[in-house]
Amino acid sequence: MTAATAFISAARLHKTYRVRKGLFGKSKTLHAVAGLDFDVPPGSTFGLVGESGSGKSTLARLLLAAEPATSGELHVDGRLVSSGTVAERKAFHKLVQPVLQDPYASLNPMMRIGEIVAEPMRVHGLLKGPALHDRVGALLESVGLLPEMAQRYPNELSGGQRQRVAIARALGLEPRALVLDEPVSALDVSIQAQILNLLKDIQARRGLTYVLISHDLAVVAYMSNRIGVLYLGEFMELGSRDDIIRNPKHPYTRALLASSESRVETGASVVSEIPSPIALPTGCRYQSRCPHASVRCRQEKPEPRSVGGMHSVACHFDL
Ligand SMILES: Nc1ncnc2c1ncn2[C@@H]1O[C@H](COP(=O)(O)OP(=O)(O)OP(=O)(O)O)[C@@H](O)[C@H]1O
Ligand SMILES: [Mg+2]
Repeated sequence: MTAATAFISAARLHKTYRVRKGLFGKSKTLHAVAGLDFDVPPGSTFGLVGESGSGKSTLARLLLAAEPATSGELHVDGRLVSSGTVAERKAFHKLVQPVLQDPYASLNPMMRIGEIVAEPMRVHGLLKGPALHDRVGALLESVGLLPEMAQRYPNELSGGQRQRVAIARALGLEPRALVLDEPVSALDVSIQAQILNLLKDIQARRGLTYVLISHDLAVVAYMSNRIGVLYLGEFMELGSRDDIIRNPKHPYTRALLASSESRVETGASVVSEIPSPIALPTGCRYQSRCPHASVRCRQEKPEPRSVGGMHSVACHFDL
């Protein structure tokens, strides 16, 4: 696949923030997204996995044109993503819509469900009156809710129902892609599979492209065609679902997989803390936690290299 055939394409994408410790501290640069390259074919799911602070939501905000990149390029449907003017942002909102982690926070508690789902279509002047009313009913049905739900308020719904409402709202503008940032993390485990299956159904019916973000490798593995393993703003490994799950090459991917498997039995997760993205380790970003780290890893940063087909890994070792 080339960037030209991808629905979403990122090249050398960077996002830095200036941060200051305390009121009079010196300001420093924080590298939240540090040079990402990836292509997402239309109708597929690209899964992004990584621990807290690895840059997942920052990348989501870039994809949603909510913030500008510091450098590099991001194309959606062949168009350069820009958060410049209001009109440009509006055009991108029609193309790419978000579904976020917490449906409690993302739905206005003062609005009825029907108004919440109708709002983006109203803002974009797509429909009004009875046509808008009917469309809201159809959207609610398409996510497995009764049209009568339109009269209710968010606090009258369960967490799973609320996330269905958030999905219905995202679909109103008939976007071509959804950015799903931890879409099931706030839900009971028993509800998570229902929402993931609903998202799969919707994708099959509408041919949508998904970028799915999760700290949970099991969720990403269930949903994705390709997976990027993010660590401190960089891909440690990038490949098809099977490359990453069945043939992981990077020690970090292996640690995530092991913790994902052991968590089911023991509740454990990856040991030791992720370093600060302000004081990055020299050489490989993962060296301070890597059981294989050598002198070379502390001095020389491994560049991503192909380990077969479109499977790439940023590690000096052949593991
Ligand atoms: N507006 C901002 N200003 C300064 N630093 C920021 C800003 N947004 C994010 N960061 C920093 O960028 C890094 C990446 O944050 P981000 O929210 O993208 O991580 P994440 O992978 O989504 O984490 P989580 O799993 O906790 O949601 C973090 O160190 C965070 O503190
Ligand atoms: Mg996040």
